[in-house]
Amino acid sequence: MFHLIRVGATYEIWAVQPLGENVSYAMKWLPPGEKHTRQAANDLKHEYTVGKSLTHDSCIKTYEYGTGKDGTYLTMELFKTPNLKQQITEGVERLHFRLEEILQGAALALEHMHKQGWTHRDVKPDNYLVSEENEVRLIDFTIARKIPKGIGKLFGGKAPVQGTYSYMSPEQIRGKEVDARADIYSFGCMIYELMTGKVPFTATSSTELLNKHLKARPPELSMLQPNVRPEFGKLVHRMLAKDPNDRPDSLMEFYREMRAGRCFHIKPKPPLTEEEEAAKRAEEDGLE
Ligand SMILES: Nc1ncnc2c1ncn2[C@@H]1O[C@H](COP(=O)(O)OP(=O)(O)OP(=O)(O)O)[C@@H](O)[C@H]1O
Ligand SMILES: [Mg+2]
Repeated sequence: MFHLIRVGATYEIWAVQPLGENVSYAMKWLPPGEKHTRQAANDLKHEYTVGKSLTHDSCIKTYEYGTGKDGTYLTMELFKTPNLKQQITEGVERLHFRLEEILQGAALALEHMHKQGWTHRDVKPDNYLVSEENEVRLIDFTIARKIPKGIGKLFGGKAPVQGTYSYMSPEQIRGKEVDARADIYSFGCMIYELMTGKVPFTATSSTELLNKHLKARPPELSMLQPNVRPEFGKLVHRMLAKDPNDRPDSLMEFYREMRAGRCFHIKPKPPLTEEEEAAKRAEEDGLE
């Protein structure tokens, strides 16, 4: 039994249930054909290697990798929820009453990855799955890289410019070998979007967008979201610092600071259920 979840640019994501088993898995599949390049197959194998090294509850569990005449695949835990980007599209205010819980899981998953020696390099809402119970899964490790250690750190090597422009740190744009702080920048962009509904920088061309990441100051978070606590706003802006040295050192630091305060001044309320919405409308109609 199987059904298609999503067709991406290169891979397809399927929900599969092997014959005779009553558990379903998610399968990231590279079908045979023109998209089946050596690079794409290697990337999937790499995703397997990275995924296998992660043991945090908020990181997706990786099971198997295989390749053959039916293409190349990776199986993982099936986590049947829309990704965070899809949830943002429904309206960020609907997420605000549970934002702190979501960010905790999201930050700890990424912190774990860093502790295991990896940078994710494509941190964005599309790569977090979040359930209604605020359970989080970090996914998509195809472009993760080892954090340089020891002498490697001193030479400041080159890395391919990959990632997603709206969330990309200045050093990643410059093609430098990055460390955890590049992910912290991207994580900052994601929080900014979750708070305001907008990413820190938008532009009409990719060159302009990348230039803004390199040079422009993002609009004050409090201008777009007056309910942000000033301390939290400052923390997010520190994550968006151009110089990695000016950012929090780790997601643990972010996590502790967030836990010490709150994100919002006034505690956001959960969105109304459909029935409550209908009752409210009926009441308003009655008043007219
Ligand atoms: N384990 C999973 N369980 C449930 N859904 C998943 C799982 N893995 C991925 N998905 C769904 O498939 C989407 C794409 O997965 P992923 O980010 O790994 O692939 P991708 O190559 O980045 O795809 P795209 O080209 O669409 O960006 C996710 O955003 C999510 O909606
Ligand atoms: Mg993805």
